[in-house]
Amino acid sequence: MTTSTATSATQPLPVAPGLPLVGSLIPMLRDSELFLATQAARLGPCYRVRVLGQSMVVIAGPVAAQVMSQNAGEVDAWRVWEGIIREFGGRQVLTMLEGPEHLAYRAAARSGFAKGRVLEGLPQVTALTREALDRVGPDELLQVVPFAQRLVADCIGTLTLGRTPGPHLTDFMTYWHTQLAVHLVGSARPAALRRAEYLRAKASARAFAQEVLDQETGEHPSSYVTDLRRLRDTRPDLMNDEELLFMMLIPYVAGLDTVVNVLSLTLYELYRRPEVLARVQAEARPIVEQGLPPERLRDLKVLHAAVLEVMRLYPIANILPRYATQDFTVQGYRVRQGERLLMALATSQRDPVLFSDPNRFDLDRFLPPRNEHRQKGAFQPYGAGAHTCLGAGMAEALLAAILAVTVTHGQFELFPKGFRMRPFHSANLSPDARLRLRRVQ
Ligand code: HEM
Repeated sequence: MTTSTATSATQPLPVAPGLPLVGSLIPMLRDSELFLATQAARLGPCYRVRVLGQSMVVIAGPVAAQVMSQNAGEVDAWRVWEGIIREFGGRQVLTMLEGPEHLAYRAAARSGFAKGRVLEGLPQVTALTREALDRVGPDELLQVVPFAQRLVADCIGTLTLGRTPGPHLTDFMTYWHTQLAVHLVGSARPAALRRAEYLRAKASARAFAQEVLDQETGEHPSSYVTDLRRLRDTRPDLMNDEELLFMMLIPYVAGLDTVVNVLSLTLYELYRRPEVLARVQAEARPIVEQGLPPERLRDLKVLHAAVLEVMRLYPIANILPRYATQDFTVQGYRVRQGERLLMALATSQRDPVLFSDPNRFDLDRFLPPRNEHRQKGAFQPYGAGAHTCLGAGMAEALLAAILAVTVTHGQFELFPKGFRMRPFHSANLSPDARLRLRRVQ
């Protein structure tokens, strides 16, 4: 184990290059994933980076995964989330808790995010996908990002919350993207939280959360709502009414941008590679023609490998912020209590030692016999340790179902044919909105 609370280590952390005053701001804004991976290759898995006077400790690749998995109270995300939940009106939320309180939240949220929700709801997911595609006539253009946002929001809403967000969706995105820009990315000032447009969007997002809580439970009550309501009733010390309300937005907070990014980027990568698209279509067609039976979803192996390859090349959410809650040492370096940490799991994903020809799109690396992702610490798109994604099963089943239907429904092509996305990095929050497909038939 590389971490310990020993205080004997005195070796100073190496420092990533930067300019006076702004530090490494420019390369971090341009492409934080690339910058952090390049510095990890030069300096090793632990180093310091300075941005506008703020100093952060980067812990990269498999070492980050190890610190997170073996965390015994050295790191947490309390300060990462504190401003967000305070502004909403609560004290705490599952992403910032540790120990028994965290486990209680996870236990209550688990069944609402299970893969089984998608397997039971496949007919609805299929119908929603076909309806969304059929809104685009021959020769018309499919705007991929808004298509993905509405479809994913409707699917997650139907499967987990028992209702779709309707007009509240764009307001939710305004609310949430402003929160991210102010509290996580640092690209907007706190004054953004006082603007009329933001306050209106936040009120609308809250109204949607309240509608979810108030809805008739009916014949198929949402287990997510029921389980969390029970936690509020039995453990008001842990969850009050405001925190319950925020939990009604968590499926979108955690699951919307992530799945939308992967879905949009997978469509982009498939439709610019006709030979890969043809492989995915040949695999999906007989399964979709059978009506996409739940037990056959796992047979979409090439499609699944394409999704994983997209997550490897475009790390959506795996540079994870934390704070040191006590002094500890990692790889012989001392980290001080209170330091801001960047757990850069994604740096492994382009490491040529782990992934051959790592900048190439090559889905076969995720299939036997290569299985390059199975190497320890190599590929952790869902995080590591106690906070590992609760919705990974739901995300993968949903992506498989939506993509299988999309690639076999009508015929689309990239528009314009030679279109290239702007370079992606996770602080963008959304993929390139110019991405379009033209319906050929
Ligand atoms: C491809 C899609 C997804 C990716 C790449 C992804 C990635 C992640 C990552 C990296 C974390 C860990 C965050 C951290 O440790 O700070 C996380 C946590 C989480 N994810 Fe996902 N996620 C995805 C989809 C979803 C979906 C669809 C849902 C639910 C609808 C979801 C629910 C959650 C929740 C509730 C947590 C917090 C767990 C905790 O703090 O204990 N995710 N996700």
